[in-house]
Amino acid sequence: MPLVTTTEMFKKAYEGHYAIGAFNINNMELVQAITDAAAALHSPVILQASAGARNYAKPPYLKHLVEAALEDHDLLVALHLDHGADFEACKDCIDNGFTSVMIDGSQYAFDENVALAKRVVEYAHAHGVVVEAELGQLAGIEDEVHVDAADASYTRPEEVEEFVSRTGVDSLAIAIGTSHGAYKFKPEQCTRNEQGVLVPPTLRFDILEEVSRRLPGFPIVLHGASSVVPAYVKIINDNGGKLKDAVGIPEEQLRKAASLSVCKINVDSDLRLALTAGIRQHMAEHPDHFDPRQYLKDGRQNVQELVAHKIKAVFGSENKA
Ligand code: G3H
Ligand code: 13P
Ligand code: ZN
Repeated sequence: MPLVTTTEMFKKAYEGHYAIGAFNINNMELVQAITDAAAALHSPVILQASAGARNYAKPPYLKHLVEAALEDHDLLVALHLDHGADFEACKDCIDNGFTSVMIDGSQYAFDENVALAKRVVEYAHAHGVVVEAELGQLAGIEDEVHVDAADASYTRPEEVEEFVSRTGVDSLAIAIGTSHGAYKFKPEQCTRNEQGVLVPPTLRFDILEEVSRRLPGFPIVLHGASSVVPAYVKIINDNGGKLKDAVGIPEEQLRKAASLSVCKINVDSDLRLALTAGIRQHMAEHPDHFDPRQYLKDGRQNVQELVAHKIKAVFGSENKA
């Protein structure tokens, strides 16, 4: 089956109260692990590539890896540009087979963000491609918890209707307290449970609910939504790694977001952790091995299990393809 856009995926996800996982790819093992898991569970899936991933793997390799996965599996896949920085980056992907692009103008003033998104939407829609944009900023979220004035980084619900109607975007990423990377919260922002594990502050579901009230039926996207799975952090740290106080978004909060208007949940850090944990554990257990196929196989297996778990137990997209 050819690549699809996210239009139908999001409509069904919204109505069915589940979300589609959007997984970052940058090499063959990740593409295989994600699509093997999605195919086995009959789940739709979004494969997304950042500018960094495109630089690393080179665009033709990524494109053909995705095509290979579609040849290998009968699978519902959208190919998405993650965090497109400008019109040219989006145009390049639109011209080269992507079915969805993000134009990330979240660091600009409202009117500038609108103008940029509108320009991308006009080009994308003329080519049958859908567009995600962002209002509010994830970066610097740590400070917000302590400083009320920094609330400005959260999405302002009163801006969303005007943004969507002026730009014509197909989905909107919002900032409700998620954050990119493996260190989403500082330890002092968290509490500790009886086992001494850091418990992060709860996401701002009030903002999500107000956004959905103002944009009924409109698909919302969560970036920075890795759970920073403690089991993988532990394997890494037990095998020579040093990831101190890594903390992510608890699964039950992602489940709740998926049951509301969140139709796309972005995951990159958890894939990195799962792959690295598999490789580190393999290296530690087999210091004599030096064939990449041996340790990459273990990393890939971890990623496949992680994606399967998210599809089944967190996002709820199993059997929705
Ligand atoms: O949201 C950003 C993604 O995690 C991509 O990260 O630019 O290092 O590939 P990257
Ligand atoms: P994580 O760092 O939480 O995996 O977020 C990934 C992301 O938002 C990609 O756009
Ligand atoms: Zn992101």
